Amino acid sequence: MAQPVIRVFPDLERLSREAAKQFMRLAQQQVQVSGRFSVALSGGSTPRRLYELLASEPYRNRIPWDQVHVFWADERCVPFDHPDSNFRQAFELLLSRVPLPPVNVYRIPADQGDPVSAAASYEQTLRAFFRLEPNSWPEFDLVLLGLGADGHMASLFPRSVALRETHRFVVATRGGAPDLPRVTLTIPVLNHATHLLWLVAGAEKSSVIRDVLTGPEHPDELPAEMIHPVRGNSMWLLDRAASSLLQRSPSHDPRR
Ligand code: 6PG
Repeated sequence: MAQPVIRVFPDLERLSREAAKQFMRLAQQQVQVSGRFSVALSGGSTPRRLYELLASEPYRNRIPWDQVHVFWADERCVPFDHPDSNFRQAFELLLSRVPLPPVNVYRIPADQGDPVSAAASYEQTLRAFFRLEPNSWPEFDLVLLGLGADGHMASLFPRSVALRETHRFVVATRGGAPDLPRVTLTIPVLNHATHLLWLVAGAEKSSVIRDVLTGPEHPDELPAEMIHPVRGNSMWLLDRAASSLLQRSPSHDPRR
């Protein structure tokens, strides 16, 4: 299992530019290799700047949007036009501004008020898209993740039963801020992704970053510690404030 790569940037702007470059590079490479690029987006405030950058030049023109397929790591159970909708955030900042075919957008149907059926329906969507045999897992080319100050990612919260899911791809859950019913990809799906890109910024994340990346493991308390890619890799993009409690290590690049 590859060790996670940790990179530190002076601020959210430079972190987001690096994330945009990584997104573009992986999309171009993967489209060359397999003719399509599957990405699962996250909500939260940290990826907002990344989404804006991807919708502007040079990324907008250089990403092969026709072959990009957009999914979500999690969704809040609200109407799609609600301010808390992860779909809405990505749609407004990115998806409505790039030449992405609407059929390539696979939103979690969490607007219907029944999280359990939304999860089952999204699982079927994944099964069909990835043409899965029984006992196999979807393998996203890229999953973008944020980290909550409590150690959650996607909608996989500390001590939640969702953390123990070993068969389903998608489950209903509840929690977070805002505290809402939610639908989330499960730990095994995240662990089967080819690339996991974490975007974490702000001093309020510094102690959870230290605990997740260097502390003794308490995975039920810090779900991010359950991420161990099976064949893929994890890269952490941190701003200086989020990394401030980490010891310097060779993977930090102080010139950035
Ligand atoms: C969500 C997210 C969630 C988010 C983290 C970090 O829908 O709430 O997917 O997991 O990524 O809470 O959020 P911030 O970027 O706002 O810190």
